[in-house]
Amino acid sequence: MELKNLTTFHIGGRAKYFYEIKNIGELIDCLSLLKKKKIKYYVLGNGSNLLISDSGVKGAVIKLTGDFKKIMQKQNTLLVGSAVSVAKLITYGVSHNLSGLEFLWGIPGTIGGAIKTNAGTRDKSVAKIVKEIKIWKNGRQKILIKDEIGFSCRDSQITDDVIITEVKLALQKRDENVINKNLKSYMLKRKHQPRGFSAGCIFRNPPGMSAGELIDRAGLKGTEIGGAVISPIHANFILNNTGKAKARDVWKLIRLVGDTVKKIFNIRLELEIKLWGDFK
Ligand code: FAD
Ligand code: EPU
Repeated sequence: MELKNLTTFHIGGRAKYFYEIKNIGELIDCLSLLKKKKIKYYVLGNGSNLLISDSGVKGAVIKLTGDFKKIMQKQNTLLVGSAVSVAKLITYGVSHNLSGLEFLWGIPGTIGGAIKTNAGTRDKSVAKIVKEIKIWKNGRQKILIKDEIGFSCRDSQITDDVIITEVKLALQKRDENVINKNLKSYMLKRKHQPRGFSAGCIFRNPPGMSAGELIDRAGLKGTEIGGAVISPIHANFILNNTGKAKARDVWKLIRLVGDTVKKIFNIRLELEIKLWGDFK
């Protein structure tokens, strides 16, 4: 299966095996088959925080759908499948007078991916609204409460062999006008972010600093390799402007940025995006 069109970067080679899983029964069967055949697997959300190598991934890619896209509500608590998109959750919140999700506006991922990456803005992350999650690990189902997820800055301790299947979110009842007002303020923050094929910010912000600002001050905005370019609007975004960039072009830019920022500011930037496949 071609992975390119399953990522927001529109970059990436093929997966040797690809499984679209609709319910827990299918997931159990799939995982036991992969275990028996000793095949490594990757879980794909909406592919919005990923750079997949041009040679693709050797193992299997699992994408959840069907039952994993359900939303259930019990008063101010939502029980949602991990494949539900953040955008759909926000729309649900607006139409059911539930507030708490607004800061996630503009994040083009699933709630499962948002939890693994502790997605959010500068001042808030998804950790703030998560009560517990249901996961599959080593053929067993487990519930992790918030403190067991190990949330940190744009990260969690969810390892790559863990599949998040369900998420419990704690929200508050609010008037629709209040929710819409909140949403507008988060929309404004996105005005200085570029459009086009990307994976959002490439690097984590070093404590108390902005990676984008450092890359900008290093004079790298607009630098282009192959079809990939450091956004002239926000320097922490790399764009696949032409739709024809290769993972190796993006990787060369990433290394150039890392080396230049280290040389000028003596700061080692850490990757925020996840890499799948071979990168040298
Ligand atoms: P994917 O990219 O598919 O996967 C990311 C990681 O999560 C992978 O390791 C994957 O294996 C894992 N994963 C996905 N689903 C599951 C699951 N069910 N169980 C276990 N592991 C899973 N991020 C922010 O934090 N803040 C922003 O403001 C922001 N803005 C963005 C703007 C743009 C234009 C783009 C393209 C991206 C932006 N991002 C932002 C990055 C990205 O959208 C988030 O990290 C998002 O939460 C990733 O979700 P996903 O479903 O796309 O995950
Ligand atoms: N800046 C520059 N030049 C640039 C980019 C930014 O000087 O090219 C300056 C801005 O002027 C501002 C400061 O850097 O003074 C911070 O910029 P911004 O408000 O854009 O915040 P950020 O740290 O770059 C973070 C998240 C974004 C999130 C916004 C929402 C990280 C790495 N980035 O951006 O998340 O959308 O806040 O406010 O945490 C993502 O994680 O993928 C992502 C896009």
